[in-house]
Amino acid sequence: NETDKGTYPFYMLKEIDEQPNVMRRLAQVYLSETGEPVISDKLLNSMKQADRIYIVGAGTSYHAGLVGKRLFENMTQTPTEVHISSEFAYEQPILSKKPFFIFLSQSGETADSREVLVNVNAGGYESLTITNVQNSTLSREATYTLLLHAGPEIAVASTKAYTAQIAIEAILAKALGEADNQIVAQRFDVRHQLGLVATGIQAIVDEKKKIEDLAKSSFLNTPNAFYIGRGIDWSVSLEAALKLKEISYVQAEGFASGELKHGTIALIEKGTPVIGLITQEKTAGLTRSNLQETMARGAHILTIVSESLAKPGDDIILPDVDELMTPLLSVVPTQLIAYYTSLNKGLDVDKPRNLAKSVTVE
Ligand code: AGP
Repeated sequence: NETDKGTYPFYMLKEIDEQPNVMRRLAQVYLSETGEPVISDKLLNSMKQADRIYIVGAGTSYHAGLVGKRLFENMTQTPTEVHISSEFAYEQPILSKKPFFIFLSQSGETADSREVLVNVNAGGYESLTITNVQNSTLSREATYTLLLHAGPEIAVASTKAYTAQIAIEAILAKALGEADNQIVAQRFDVRHQLGLVATGIQAIVDEKKKIEDLAKSSFLNTPNAFYIGRGIDWSVSLEAALKLKEISYVQAEGFASGELKHGTIALIEKGTPVIGLITQEKTAGLTRSNLQETMARGAHILTIVSESLAKPGDDIILPDVDELMTPLLSVVPTQLIAYYTSLNKGLDVDKPRNLAKSVTVE
């Protein structure tokens, strides 16, 4: 039974552990036997005509959109904007001549996102909803739907929906880029990458004990923490911080690592945890320097690093995958850090205070 916790103390841990299988399932559902994306021609043709992609979502889904921007822009060369739905709804950005809208929503019921979709439909524009719930409101009201196939996500803190959303964005970006003869997309072996990601996530979740120890020693007694990174690592840092905030009540910030020194570094005190996400070759050295700057002010620094960029003393090493796919791995230790911090504080991991699983008011 998919909604049974089994031997797990909390749904969140079960859902974290399910991620390798979700990656494999998405490869089965959305790729052919030869590893090519299977996306309807109608959807691809609509997207091909677009001069700009607008991704809309809230919370974790918005964060998955930030990663999607990198995937679409790299593989399709189509400018892509990402918007928080509650902002877009009442401060609509200037639209391009031929916009295409992608709604990201685990539940498909988020009122803020629906408000945007109502306006998009009123404008006569086409849209795609990527959601975990068939026949949900956002799915019914959009032109197209792609399902996450992640199985029910019950914990309030979203985990497997985030990784599933990114995996589908990668498949879609590959399909769209290939349809347009884009070389980056042609060279991107999405099936191979999803395979690497599945085994990579498995290797990380098999190291739970190590991550629990790290959570206990570094996060249990701190009032605040920072995740920092550049580019795609910055996008993941926002999600990492949200997870820590919502279930462990540690005030956490995700930050562009080069921006810290422009003010926020004033918040660093002796022992403040600063976790660097380092998965991109071109910015690895810079993020390391920014970590050093915080260490000089007393921060307790930790690193989550891709294997090929690792150095002695790094804390969590991620198996190597294509640089565009690293969020699928780097987020996993941060999910586990949030989980174990919450658990060891004796909090209700699955039902944090003040929160609902899906937010159906604006
Ligand atoms: C995630 O951990 C949060 N609980 C929350 O930010 C969530 O992602 C947001 O409310 C959006 O929900 P949706 O994906 O169902 O639209």
